[in-house]
Amino acid sequence: MAIVYNEEIKVFNLETEYSTYQMKVGEFGFLLHLYYGEKLEADSDLSYLIQRADRGFSGNPYEARYDRTFSLDYFPQEYSCFGNGDYRADSIQTIHADGSNVTDLRYKSHKIYPGKYRLPGLPAMFWKEEEGDSLEITMEDPVTGVQVVLYYGVLEKGDVITRSVRVMNGGQTPVELKKAMSLCLDMNHNQLDFIHFYGRHTMERQMERGPLHHGKQSIGSLRGISSHHHNPFVILCDRQATEERGDCYGMMFLYSGNFLAEVEVDQIHQTRAIMGIHPEQFSFRLEPGEDLALPEVAMIYTHKGLSCLSLKFHDAIRQHIMRGEWAHKRRPILINNWEATYFDFNGQKLVDIARDAKELGIEMLVMDDGWFGKRDSDNSGLGDWVVNEDKLGCTLKELVTQVNSLGLKFGMWFEPEMICEDSNLYRAHPDWMMRVPGRAGNIAREQFVLDYTRKEVRDYIEQAMSRILDSANIEYIKWDMNRSMCNVFSAALPAERQGEISYRYVLGLYELLERLTSKYPYILFEGCSGGGGRFDAGMLYYTPQIWCSDDTDAIERLKIQYGTSFGYPIGAVGSHVSACPNHQTKRITPIETRGTVAMAGTFGYELDLTKLTQEEKKVVRQQVEEYKKYDHLVHEGDYYRLSGPYGNDRVTCWQFMDKEKKNGLFCAVYTRLQANPAPLIIKLKGLDKKRRYEINGRIYSGAALMYGGLLLPVPESEYQSFRFEIQEKENL
Ligand code: GLA
Repeated sequence: MAIVYNEEIKVFNLETEYSTYQMKVGEFGFLLHLYYGEKLEADSDLSYLIQRADRGFSGNPYEARYDRTFSLDYFPQEYSCFGNGDYRADSIQTIHADGSNVTDLRYKSHKIYPGKYRLPGLPAMFWKEEEGDSLEITMEDPVTGVQVVLYYGVLEKGDVITRSVRVMNGGQTPVELKKAMSLCLDMNHNQLDFIHFYGRHTMERQMERGPLHHGKQSIGSLRGISSHHHNPFVILCDRQATEERGDCYGMMFLYSGNFLAEVEVDQIHQTRAIMGIHPEQFSFRLEPGEDLALPEVAMIYTHKGLSCLSLKFHDAIRQHIMRGEWAHKRRPILINNWEATYFDFNGQKLVDIARDAKELGIEMLVMDDGWFGKRDSDNSGLGDWVVNEDKLGCTLKELVTQVNSLGLKFGMWFEPEMICEDSNLYRAHPDWMMRVPGRAGNIAREQFVLDYTRKEVRDYIEQAMSRILDSANIEYIKWDMNRSMCNVFSAALPAERQGEISYRYVLGLYELLERLTSKYPYILFEGCSGGGGRFDAGMLYYTPQIWCSDDTDAIERLKIQYGTSFGYPIGAVGSHVSACPNHQTKRITPIETRGTVAMAGTFGYELDLTKLTQEEKKVVRQQVEEYKKYDHLVHEGDYYRLSGPYGNDRVTCWQFMDKEKKNGLFCAVYTRLQANPAPLIIKLKGLDKKRRYEINGRIYSGAALMYGGLLLPVPESEYQSFRFEIQEKENL
């Protein structure tokens, strides 16, 4: 068992292969956090780390009133409450029928069982009974009857500990839940850096790292989606931690809506991290007997640095979050017509592109925005999921049949959560969009958000999409979402439940995705939100790949894909070669380099193939062939960041290696040219030091490559790149 409760000392010991998590039922039933870090002996008890002290202005629970050394003001907690004397970041806030707002949770019972707990309607990690265990600890506020079940999942191999929470109203009167976080993690020091990934549209997931300071620092989203602006994945690590060594704690939220990740350093330099649904714009009314499940946080600890942390998250997502036929199947190399034509296309144009694509070895054509309703620009038509046969010049079935007969699969774009005022859907159901009565609202890309809290809205979209999917051989869907939410309001919910909408929306989205992915298991779904505005582990449960960014510039992508790689597997990263000058930045880069960067992802093209020169076509053909060879490394292998894209680095390098440490791929992109350049030596990773490897016609030992490094060729032109295959040779 990965989870053991020692009744005598009341200590819970959670163990993965390389980490231990410990907590204790303390006096008066408070659940105290003891430890999370490197693996300890199974019978260790770290209660001694909790120092008791009489601190001024640190009150005591009533039961402990003669003992001024027992205070929630500084004791480490598993789930901090508002109003019971813990003034640090709280995990739960409730308002009761009498107006009081105290929650005071005490241990009531627990159960331990093999396998993984389930969360109704929410994405969650899954594993087999023999792979890990679950623990449910029921806490209760004896005065109000509010119960909180703290869920812990322990995946032994992979070092994952998951946390989630269910809040139940066990009292006699309604409770308004104002805040309920999924994770609360206390640490007894503050010598940590906070790493997070901020950004904007076309520049997502920029890594930022800085030391913790006293008080609170946080990132989050109130946009209704996890957002381009902050990603729901954060890392706390030793100040000295590097890619290769140092304590690292990764926390990933499996949720695609508003979130908060907050870290606080307290009066005695202790650290608390909380993560969960953002409490602003959130409230949930629980009638007596009702309950609410909160989304999951997956945590991984390693003392082996950031590389190791990323490898573990990549494996955890690939093996225990991504589902369905496509999770481990080779994904088709695609050509998407968005940057090739934007809205200006017809069926013939797509067939022309498909014909060239086939010649180049590309395997699927994706028809992007503009094929439905009245949609020749981005100001109308969303909601009308009816094929515009006049524009295509044929039926969808005829188009798909032509593309299929060329030997290509066919995929298409939808933006199912949206509605335009200029649409038949809006004219028929004006109340289906989210809009506050009496307010015109806030318009973005001339579109509004459909009220996915309503089942009839989801049913309508399912039917409309199914009609299309049943009418032709559609094998891929790009599921887009192109605006931030505001003016959040549902015509179908009473005033006292309006605070529930953001949560209900996300669960509505998940419910529809579940319906469609189970009804059409053979369809590959790619998530998208103006590029990577909803790149999170919640979406990856339904869509095993996500379009990483609307910025397809190879050099900017180095930073975007670098940041994304800390938490998310490379095979989930939608990445395409586009035309030059690049449409977003106007930069010119060699097509070889665009290929190198796009190969660190799902790989495809997003340009008008019919306009390529013969020379460029030759390069594309080679790239396609090469990617087919390396596909398994990208999707199932290990990924290492070797040299980052920030600062004065002249080159950005990364490496893929298969799990057997036999074959790999080394990639380098030069970002800055220099006169009389100093040598560039890059140390490889993940090799077997005793084996021999061939790179670019030369044999090296694994040790030489990892400790001595690889001497890179001197670049001959701006933004040049190299891809070198790493091949094992016979053992030394
Ligand atoms: C979003 C997507 C793009 C494209 C357009 C179409 O911006 O990220 O790839 O599909 O929508 O409108």
